[in-house]
Amino acid sequence: MDRRTFVKTAITHLGALAVGAGLSSATFGNQEKPQNGNSALTSQEQAAPEGTLREYSLTAEPTQFEIPSRGIFEKWLYNGKFPGPEIRAREGERLRLTVKNSLPEGTTIHWHGIPLHNSMDGVPDITQPAISPGGNFVYEFDAAPSGSFLYHSHFGLQPERGLVGPLIVEERKSHIQYDREYTLALSDFLAEAPRPLGSGMRPGGGAMVAPPYIMLLINGRPPEAPAVFTVKNGERVRLRLINLSGATIYRFAIGGHPFIVTHTDGRPVEPLRVDALHLAPGERYDVLVEAKNPGAWPIAASSDNELPPARAVLRYLDSNETAPREGALPEGLSGGQLLNLENLRGMDLPEMRKPNRTFNFTLAGGEMKPGGMMSSMGTMSPAEMMTQQWTMNGQAYPSAEPLEIHQGEVVRIRLDNQSAMPHPMHLHGHFFRVGNVYKDTTIVWTHSKRVELDFIANNPGSWLFHCHNLYHMEGGMMRLVRYLPA
Ligand code: C2O
Ligand code: CU
Repeated sequence: MDRRTFVKTAITHLGALAVGAGLSSATFGNQEKPQNGNSALTSQEQAAPEGTLREYSLTAEPTQFEIPSRGIFEKWLYNGKFPGPEIRAREGERLRLTVKNSLPEGTTIHWHGIPLHNSMDGVPDITQPAISPGGNFVYEFDAAPSGSFLYHSHFGLQPERGLVGPLIVEERKSHIQYDREYTLALSDFLAEAPRPLGSGMRPGGGAMVAPPYIMLLINGRPPEAPAVFTVKNGERVRLRLINLSGATIYRFAIGGHPFIVTHTDGRPVEPLRVDALHLAPGERYDVLVEAKNPGAWPIAASSDNELPPARAVLRYLDSNETAPREGALPEGLSGGQLLNLENLRGMDLPEMRKPNRTFNFTLAGGEMKPGGMMSSMGTMSPAEMMTQQWTMNGQAYPSAEPLEIHQGEVVRIRLDNQSAMPHPMHLHGHFFRVGNVYKDTTIVWTHSKRVELDFIANNPGSWLFHCHNLYHMEGGMMRLVRYLPA
């Protein structure tokens, strides 16, 4: 007999429920409502004991989506929303997510950062067959550990269609106190269907060397119609920064407010005050803002492409100002103290033994190779059939050797980036130690920048390790990490 408490939540494809309002429990989801850190946790702990089952339904389907002030776009979305609905559970609860595929092709969902059972990892052909059009799949796993995560399709470039969303596991005991919280999901946005880089699909011909994004968004809103996050003077506000982008690395800052980094990729760190941080695809940072500078301030995330920075507004309810000065950007976008990952100290680092096994990889690529688009693009010239290739030790997935490991080992991966692009490298199913923090995605910067990751092989199965720039991933910068039988 299953004695779990059941909390059933139906988020329908009609999209009637707002982001974050998907849970039927009244204590969850209303992000506008001030929450009082630990005291709120206590009452919720009683309301929802560990093992409570939280059910969600997600339907992936073609949707006409309106971006305020920009028009209507043909996207593929979860429950008609962009980003997808915020999935929320409390640490130790059980999540059951029923996914319906109403797309014209197969799909899966990957729960990025959660060290779940391999069969629930959502990688087509590796952990499950793709969910066929018209089909369903039920994902079920423990909501643990706490933290800010994301979920997305893991079927080719599908996330670029809009199949991405935030996933929050609330901690039962937090090392920080705050009065309210907001989720800030950063996205780069394509007006059209995604194509591999290098393919001659640019309007007017010529090889496409960067994805043709038309805007950078925070919570699905363009810079000229930004989301507004309200605060009261004196409050402490927790912001969950989640980069859902396909290829964009941001520099994030808030006008008039330094902030305190409290978590990286969901893992708690000793609080560290900075003015700005970099956030790569798949990465998350939780930060605390002390609201003691009344007014209306720009929140912004800039990239090194030509697009205007993504924007939102931090607005004090007790101030007469309702919008930042036209065009104002946070000073932190170009100056001030930028977070250096090496200065962060994780609070839940496991004891790491010396590695039993080390893999060395050189990251390279960007050159063109004959592409795989011939069949559908029969009329293209040979030059137009080229796609960009990205490699690890010269090999491009799937023509690449797996990393074979044994359960119980400490595994070290050394990365040396010899390419001209930064690579946010992500390991499925595990956290790794980088510097003095625990993360699941970390940037390897350009031009011989080296990074060392250590992880404990404690979650058997077949897992992906790849660059989270989706075009680099699709271009081959990916490996399988495979546990061998003992
Ligand atoms: Cu979020 Cu394989 O990735
Ligand atoms: Cu990359």
